[in-house]
Amino acid sequence: MMTAPLIDVKRVGKRYERGGRPFWAVKGATLTVSEGEFVTLLGRSGSGKSTLLNMVVGLLAPTEGTVTLCGQALAGMSDEAASALRNRAVGFVPQGAGVLSTLTVLDNVRLPAYLSAGVREEEGRALELLEAVGLKELANQYPSALSGGELRRVAIARALMNRPKVIVADEPTSSLDADNAAMVVDIFKKLARGGTGVLMVTHDTSSIEQSDRLFDMVGGVLSPHEA
Ligand SMILES: Nc1ncnc2c1ncn2[C@@H]1O[C@H](COP(=O)(O)OP(=O)(O)OP(=O)(O)O)[C@@H](O)[C@H]1O
Ligand SMILES: [Mg+2]
Repeated sequence: MMTAPLIDVKRVGKRYERGGRPFWAVKGATLTVSEGEFVTLLGRSGSGKSTLLNMVVGLLAPTEGTVTLCGQALAGMSDEAASALRNRAVGFVPQGAGVLSTLTVLDNVRLPAYLSAGVREEEGRALELLEAVGLKELANQYPSALSGGELRRVAIARALMNRPKVIVADEPTSSLDADNAAMVVDIFKKLARGGTGVLMVTHDTSSIEQSDRLFDMVGGVLSPHEA
């Protein structure tokens, strides 16, 4: 039986203006990610990868084209509805640290559970996820006491908290050493085997063999990766 893709991006474009000059950061991007698929996006700095991911998760409105996420069209959806969908069904790892400095590591990881269902507990799951990314001992620390790579891993654990149907990760392995990077890709790979859809941006070519499909982004244009 064919099921609808978890991510369905059709001819999406984003036009920006800088110094009075418009340009397309993303042009005509078409992409699907289905259940159990691990899709990787490669591309140079400034090529439009984050712009595309932010449109996929509904944080940025496309100039043209459509995005359907977990069967729901994002166009015209209210901010509240989009945040609720993101929190419930999408594990988003934004570029950069993106953790809340006023919360401990543990509370950062379990925040999605609290936001979606008001579930304060879930300590057990949050600790399991921290253990999976090698940070259990740091559960009670505040982000200011963590390294860049440790903060990346907190953001990854947090993205997995609500057992998302789809993971959208923007350079999740940046600032990680080879072992930790491999561990993160391994976690994503296992989740994909269990049916989760994964869309990951990376510069790390060692993760290429783990993915089912690879795309290149060049000057805002997405195309299947040429080996
Ligand atoms: N809000 C904005 N206004 C104008 N231009 C922008 C804006 N956001 C991004 N850009 C430009 O759009 C292009 C694509 O940016 P984007 O962040 O998507 O690149 P990227 O591929 O994610 O790069 P990196 O690998 O460095 O993260 C860049 O030229 C960037 O400077
Ligand atoms: Mg980026």
